[in-house]
Amino acid sequence: MKAFVVDRYQKQAALRLADMPTPEPHEDEVLVEVHAAGVNLLDAKIRSGEFKLILPYRLPLILGHDVAGVVVKVGARVRQFRLGDEVYARVDDFRIGTFAEFVPIKEASIALKPKSLTMEEAASIPLVGLTAWQALVEKADLKKGQKVFIQAGSGGVGTFAIQLAKHLGATIATTTSMANVALVKSLGADVAVDYKTQDFEGVLREYDVVLNSQDGKTLEKSLRVLKRGGKLISISGPPDPEFGSEVAAPWFVRLVVRLLSSGVRRKARRSGVGYSFLFMKSSGSQLREITRLLEAGAIRPVVDRVFPFASTNEALAYVEAGRAKGKVVISIK
Ligand SMILES: NC(=O)c1ccc[n+]([C@@H]2O[C@H](COP(=O)([O-])OP(=O)(O)OC[C@H]3O[C@@H](n4cnc5c(N)ncnc54)[C@H](OP(=O)(O)O)[C@@H]3O)[C@@H](O)[C@H]2O)c1
Repeated sequence: MKAFVVDRYQKQAALRLADMPTPEPHEDEVLVEVHAAGVNLLDAKIRSGEFKLILPYRLPLILGHDVAGVVVKVGARVRQFRLGDEVYARVDDFRIGTFAEFVPIKEASIALKPKSLTMEEAASIPLVGLTAWQALVEKADLKKGQKVFIQAGSGGVGTFAIQLAKHLGATIATTTSMANVALVKSLGADVAVDYKTQDFEGVLREYDVVLNSQDGKTLEKSLRVLKRGGKLISISGPPDPEFGSEVAAPWFVRLVVRLLSSGVRRKARRSGVGYSFLFMKSSGSQLREITRLLEAGAIRPVVDRVFPFASTNEALAYVEAGRAKGKVVISIK
């Protein structure tokens, strides 16, 4: 099968279009014919080698985490899916590879594709949808009437997280540049701060939850917009000790992880707020909850651009440039 692979970790390096063996699904997996693959910054970061300590892949590696497609083979122990089912998923770590014609996926990580969505729209959802769900529902337990600050509201995570927070009944503030204010408001943001001309710290007060996706300076300022008892959840680091244990990292990696976040954890304790890092995980059951919201029209996909399979490198470069409005998708079949 045709696939885009990483041969060696390097910043900005092009993926190679290769002929790879079509994978065989394990007993608890299905083989999916990929119709569309969502592109995420995680793909670019893995290609650059930023994740090699935490996710030590063997090279050459087929890249890609998000997929929508059709089940073409079913493992012996799979019960919920049949040949011909239209499905979508964020595939599991160490079993990635959606920038390809076929990908094997664990039954536990898949959900039926929302009927109202095209393959391209469905492929745009899993990683960012699950990230928003795990941050706002699982970690923050965001409730009706609470105030949440979601950074970068026009990005892949932001466009989904704003809509989810709205559905949960929260008041939402976000940062974006002037050109995207109308977009974030249409998704449900109550307060839009233009990060190029305004400092959010001077505008936002007494928030219950912050979803941080930017740099260390932004993280530090975020501590000061939270009320006592509030929660700072970061998806852009630094990782906390729980994360080191979760991924069963070797002792020296756990030590580094502990040190990286010691400053922000100390400052959070002093301000009486909670700090946690989230590294999202695949989940078919959470994806089914998300499907319900998509089918009910409570959340809509925001797709910026769809690239043909042959232009996978251009799609990755576009995402890396950091200006995407919503999601970027590769159309494969
Ligand atoms: N830990 C996890 O599990 C996890 C999961 C998903 C994502 N992430 C991480 O979260 C971050 C965001 O991911 P993403 O997919 O949402 O990114 P993205 O879609 O690439 O974000 C692009 C958007 O960010 C906006 N932006 C850029 N700089 C900004 C700033 N300083 N303030 C506010 N908005 C800004 C841009 O808007 P303008 O064009 O208007 O500037 C653009 O619309 C990345 O670092 C990603 O790796 C982590």
